[in-house]
Amino acid sequence: MRRALFSLLWMLILSISMRDVGYAQAPSTPPTLPTMKPEQRGLMVFQQVCSSCHSIQFVHYGDMSALQPSRTALKNWAQQHHAKIDEPIASPYPNVAVGKAANGGDYPPDLSHITRTIKGGPDYIRNVLTGYRPTPPDITLAPNTYYNPVALTHHHHFKMRPPLHDDMMSFPDGTKATIPQMAADVTNFLQWVDDPHRTTRHFIGTAVLLYLLVFSTILFTLWRVIQKEEG
Ligand code: HEC
Repeated sequence: MRRALFSLLWMLILSISMRDVGYAQAPSTPPTLPTMKPEQRGLMVFQQVCSSCHSIQFVHYGDMSALQPSRTALKNWAQQHHAKIDEPIASPYPNVAVGKAANGGDYPPDLSHITRTIKGGPDYIRNVLTGYRPTPPDITLAPNTYYNPVALTHHHHFKMRPPLHDDMMSFPDGTKATIPQMAADVTNFLQWVDDPHRTTRHFIGTAVLLYLLVFSTILFTLWRVIQKEEG
């Protein structure tokens, strides 16, 4: 009996070590890429491109933790903007005059609620970001002005330098950074920014509903029990 047990143990140990060897020799599988939500890629676009001109001052750097879980990364980003993690994502310009002077006379608007407040909403923003075209020969543009037939401001004479270029960044999830892709992702991000606490609120709403449901079931059962005892 004892010998049988021993040999069983040996076989177990052997099989485990063989399995390890097998693992070591197996061809290495390609690393799986992390999955990212569009608004997470959009945060990257905002960080690397838009934030050099635009503020989203109604949210703080720390509010981005729902999209970027690394607190250190957020702290570093805030630090690059001479801010702390619990401070608003402010404009890079010290005042409106400097911001205007740097952008052909127009101030880059705050983007906190832009998807809701701008005429045309998210569709317009996506289209503007992908809407730059070569200047037609019969049009002369002022300095620091760009032709964008989608832009409603100044009859298509847009003051925002084309911010997106194909492959200007690389997304960790392997998504190709084309202009339409980045435009869609950053618009998603701006929609999220418009109400960053929506998900938490929905969660609390559902929790409250569940609580009420359970509570009323208990009350109802109690009521039935009492009725039975009385009747
Ligand atoms: C180099 C500075 C600069 C960068 C970078 C930049 N913008 Fe702008 N943006 C501007 C300026 C200036 C305006 C105002 C343009 C005007 O009124 O002609 C503007 C206007 C806008 C508008 C309003 C458009 C309208 O029709 O009123 C949106 C939306 C916008 N930018 C989004 C973005 C997004 C998203 C990014 C990043 C992908 C970005 N911007 C990057 C300078 C910039």
